[in-house]
Amino acid sequence: MNALTRDLKKLTEEKERCAGGNDRYRQKIHLMPPVGWLNDPNGLCQFQGVFHSFFQYSPFNPEGGVKMWGHCTSSDMIRWEYRGVTLYPDQPFDCSGVYSGCALIEDGEMHLFYTGNVKLEDRDDYDYVNSGREANTVLVSSRDGEHFGNKRLLMKNTDYPADLTLHVRDPKVWKQGGVWYMIQGARRKDDVGEAILFRSDDLVSWNYHSTVRTEEPFGYMWECPDYYETDGVKILSASVQGLTGEAWKDRNVYQSGYFTLEGDITGEYSLSDYHLWDYGFDYYAPQSFETEEGRRIQIAWMGMPDCEEYTNLTIEDGWQHCFTFPREVYAADGVVKQWPIRELNEYRGAAVRGKGTLAAKEVSVYDAEITGIRDSRFRAVLGDELVLEYRDGRFVMKFSDRDRASASAGRGIRYAEVEKVDSVRILADVSSVEVFVNGGQYVFSTRYYPKRAGIRIEADGADAVIYEITENIK
Ligand code: FRU
Repeated sequence: MNALTRDLKKLTEEKERCAGGNDRYRQKIHLMPPVGWLNDPNGLCQFQGVFHSFFQYSPFNPEGGVKMWGHCTSSDMIRWEYRGVTLYPDQPFDCSGVYSGCALIEDGEMHLFYTGNVKLEDRDDYDYVNSGREANTVLVSSRDGEHFGNKRLLMKNTDYPADLTLHVRDPKVWKQGGVWYMIQGARRKDDVGEAILFRSDDLVSWNYHSTVRTEEPFGYMWECPDYYETDGVKILSASVQGLTGEAWKDRNVYQSGYFTLEGDITGEYSLSDYHLWDYGFDYYAPQSFETEEGRRIQIAWMGMPDCEEYTNLTIEDGWQHCFTFPREVYAADGVVKQWPIRELNEYRGAAVRGKGTLAAKEVSVYDAEITGIRDSRFRAVLGDELVLEYRDGRFVMKFSDRDRASASAGRGIRYAEVEKVDSVRILADVSSVEVFVNGGQYVFSTRYYPKRAGIRIEADGADAVIYEITENIK
């Protein structure tokens, strides 16, 4: 450990020790930072039976700052234990931020790949896109998931294709046909977003392999790409910046979605249209991993703070943002769906049931399931402020007012075009709601700061049940 690491560790631990105060919006079943700022999930994996989740972490300021990797472990992906910071920005090649990346488990070792960010703002030719930064690809490994060896610089900007700007980041690695591939997000010099594939025989020496792109330009930058196969469907996920036009009106500033892929991503392939992972207000930079028993789990940053009217009410409490609840990604008849991990069933407490209509006044952390909805007739009101309803071919998530100090923190309306609504599942935590329509074919996530507990459901002919989640797991 060098002197800089020691100082950063000391300052971080001091900040964490002094954290606390107003806990009104702290979540019960979602991973959040001990103090300060959190963004992307990183290095998700199951290693020697234990789930590991790292996160983009900036402990000194709830509004962000230099990034490091915070670390949590869990036996069920719900009850997370914070283990401190694993990666500090303490090397010349990552000194402005240990940016996003992944974990790969191979031969009993945990390998973390990430982007070492270096800002060179004092240069005369400072230009955020074409100069003024380095994006280094770095590897660090561990045999126990706790102690890590030296960071190894694998690639720098001169190793990436020459038609790219300096925006290349967020490595995700997988094994295919006995070799390893790494996908990274990139912004081209002509301002088009794409992903870049690299190939390696030994995890240390990497070479450019190919470029993954859409036929027509799609945004100016792809962040946090991910690639995997689930139930026979190949999925290329990308968080895309710079989508404009009518289709992206009433949407978040940046999008997270996926293409399904036919063929071989390392060779000949074709991509489907882009589908949003989530139609709500807060969903970005998802990352997936496969559990030891073969489930594909995806977790995202439940934050999209760039929209102007929004201000997160937790900032004044000294922290900001959390992860989404872990979702299993699966495909049924070729349709990609997401569903809260089944471990949640263990946390279900007292239940209230109803047919057609159901109200629960006191609940604030709950899991509600409404099935057998007739003629898509569905409406639910959470507290007094958040309406979920099906109307004119759209499933809508709508706040009743856009006051920045209200439950919406300034948010308005989101929707998805949905042909027919059969079922709805609502997972509410202290300051968030995630809604799964039709078995998770459409999902809506948002942070939400209710002034009043409770939910009222009206769903023609349907069976409704609300399970309270009572256990305080933090
Ligand atoms: C996505 C992102 C990544 C980057 C990280 C930095 O939210 O911008 O592209 O690695 O956050 O915190």
